[in-house]
Amino acid sequence: MKGYSLFLNAAALSPSTPYASPALDLIRKECGLMGTKEGCREGDCGACAVLVGGFEAEGLRYRALPSCLLASGYLADRHLITIEGLGPGLSPVQKAFLEENASQCGFCSPGFIMALTGWICEPEKLNLPGAMAAVDGNLCRCTGYGAIRRASERLVAEFSDLPLTATERLKALANQGVLPQSVFAYGAWIQERKAAKVVARVQTRDVAGGIVAGGTDFYVRTPEPALGFSPVLAKSLPELEGMNILEIQGRKALRIGAAATVREFFSSPLVREWVPGIEKFESSFASTLIRNLATLGGNIANASPVGDLTSMLLALDAELEIKGRGIRRIPLKAFFLGYKKIDLLPGEIIVSICIPLAESPLRFSFAKITKRENLDIAAVNIAIAFHEDKGRFHGVQISAGGVAPTPLLLAKAMEELEGRPIPPDGDTVNRVAEAAMVEVSPIGDVRGSAEYRRKMTGRLVQANFLNLFPNGSLAKELYP
Ligand SMILES: Cc1cc2nc3c(=O)[nH]c(=O)nc-3n(C[C@H](O)[C@H](O)[C@H](O)COP(=O)(O)OP(=O)(O)OC[C@H]3O[C@@H](n4cnc5c(N)ncnc54)[C@H](O)[C@@H]3O)c2cc1C
Ligand code: FES
Ligand code: FES
Repeated sequence: MKGYSLFLNAAALSPSTPYASPALDLIRKECGLMGTKEGCREGDCGACAVLVGGFEAEGLRYRALPSCLLASGYLADRHLITIEGLGPGLSPVQKAFLEENASQCGFCSPGFIMALTGWICEPEKLNLPGAMAAVDGNLCRCTGYGAIRRASERLVAEFSDLPLTATERLKALANQGVLPQSVFAYGAWIQERKAAKVVARVQTRDVAGGIVAGGTDFYVRTPEPALGFSPVLAKSLPELEGMNILEIQGRKALRIGAAATVREFFSSPLVREWVPGIEKFESSFASTLIRNLATLGGNIANASPVGDLTSMLLALDAELEIKGRGIRRIPLKAFFLGYKKIDLLPGEIIVSICIPLAESPLRFSFAKITKRENLDIAAVNIAIAFHEDKGRFHGVQISAGGVAPTPLLLAKAMEELEGRPIPPDGDTVNRVAEAAMVEVSPIGDVRGSAEYRRKMTGRLVQANFLNLFPNGSLAKELYP
């Protein structure tokens, strides 16, 4: 992608910012739009949040994204709306902030306003927990969150009757001033570009520099990529184009494109049908802003010993489809060869992730220990999946992150549980927890000592059973 064009607020732009540079630099340094703030530059504060629109299967969609971790090239042929692009006049979200005194120094306000605007765009019924989840990646250091909560309550009341289909909702939001009229101008611009066949050409496969998918790991490691660095942007790869789509292959497996975002994974009706209850664990992964951008492929290939999606997918017995010269398939459990070492040859990419399906839906639970509830990488995480067969545990998979150089399956703990009656008693759970603690080989670091991690492994195994079997006497048996 040599040159690229985007629609910035109400006009088209062909920027000179290299496509590998973070969009925050394009916005502030090249365009001089200082409303988008630079706080942490690590995805941690939400001050840099912007709205990004593009056409998806169900029409034009807008999402709030952290511009400090977003490749400028991601914006090619998309609509970028910064705080300056709302209006004319104050948008209803800005008005709610003003009238509820939700802004003091104002540094965080553009980020909150863009995150809440993105939340209103989601074709779902609005409620206060949804608003609070939408800003779980935004920090305010002076106003206090009470006023921001009041502004959100006002928005829930004001916009309770929005259409639930993406296109109708977009029209309603533009008519009511939540989104600017430029969304229509963007639609017309992109149609013209498509007709003239000038939409961004896909990247060829053999560009040196590696892949950037969501960039939420990459840009934390490389906040200012070297000039001339030219990564392949995953979404522009022919192999991954459209691969965020989730599908059932026959009745055998659920296939998820590696470029699916964490948000898309958890909100997929297919994933929710086959792994009931998995959506409860979405909020344990980072924040809404990060989940809107981070991909499954990135979580796996990053090879962190404590990746949350990786642990979940290990417990779900996932298999990877890898494309290089040809296609090969390997179980996820065989992909990790050592600390940050993976079975991926130069030029290969993970194309999709397959979760095997049985006759009955899986039962699943996940738990992690972090310092902060949101936004934090775990010290330890544990996921459990199994089927119920004639009242007994069947096909048990227990995975652990943060307790060895690689994410791993806990074979002894799995063996201990296989075939036991459902629901389990306290003794069974304790035996599984003890087996897990013996099996792990953690080291100490800033997130916890080795001993702490070993103990937390056992506690998280127990926590998962309490998630799965909340009724009955298990809690009393475990903690008399
Ligand atoms: C504030 C913050 C909070 C976070 N919280 C969590 C958390 O709670 N839990 C958690 O697990 N992680 C967390 N992360 C880490 C990160 O968001 C995840 O690991 C994410 O899934 C990475 O995906 P990505 O698409 O952004 O990866 P990228 O940064 O784009 O890529 C990561 C690596 O994977 C490679 N890659 C990407 N896609 C492919 C592919 N298809 N094939 C081959 N290689 C590929 C890239 O080349 C790169 O080396 C957090 C990050 C931040 C900034
Ligand atoms: S600057 Fe803090 S999240 Fe981007
Ligand atoms: S208003 Fe000052 S940081 Fe939020």
